[in-house]
Amino acid sequence: MSVRNRIEVMHGVNLDQLARRDPAHYSGMSFEALERGIAAVADELGLSTRFFHTNHEGDFVEHLHRLEGMTDGIVLNPGAWTHYSYAIRDALELTGIPAVEVHLSDLEAREPWRRQSVIAEICIARIQGKGPDGYREALERLRKELAA
Ligand code: DQA
Repeated sequence: MSVRNRIEVMHGVNLDQLARRDPAHYSGMSFEALERGIAAVADELGLSTRFFHTNHEGDFVEHLHRLEGMTDGIVLNPGAWTHYSYAIRDALELTGIPAVEVHLSDLEAREPWRRQSVIAEICIARIQGKGPDGYREALERLRKELAA
């Protein structure tokens, strides 16, 4: 069987503005630096990555529709959509591809509405509050899953 090492890294709404967001939650890091860091870790772990970002919910959904046969695992941080987008939840579910949900900030320590995730139950793991390091954990988790 061929190696399963293709990871799609998907970011949603407002993540592209990371450097402008509250540094108490997002450390002032730029989105470009975040993606570069994820690519470097993936490389180290022998995973190949593709990156996708959009601020449009329908584009996020349609990107998920296109993933069949294109990737072995998904790392996703849908931003605020996490908390209410059943459309993204349904689209993620229909991919059937193992996914890990990542959040830079600690959602338990923020507003109550951020505690709800409509995608958590269909993800194999949920990582939050670890900043960019959370993505390393997500990639390691997927690597383990894909090797099993
Ligand atoms: C976030 C947390 C969400 O509540 C928020 O809307 C975001 C970013 C995070 O990475 O911590 O945009 O997903």
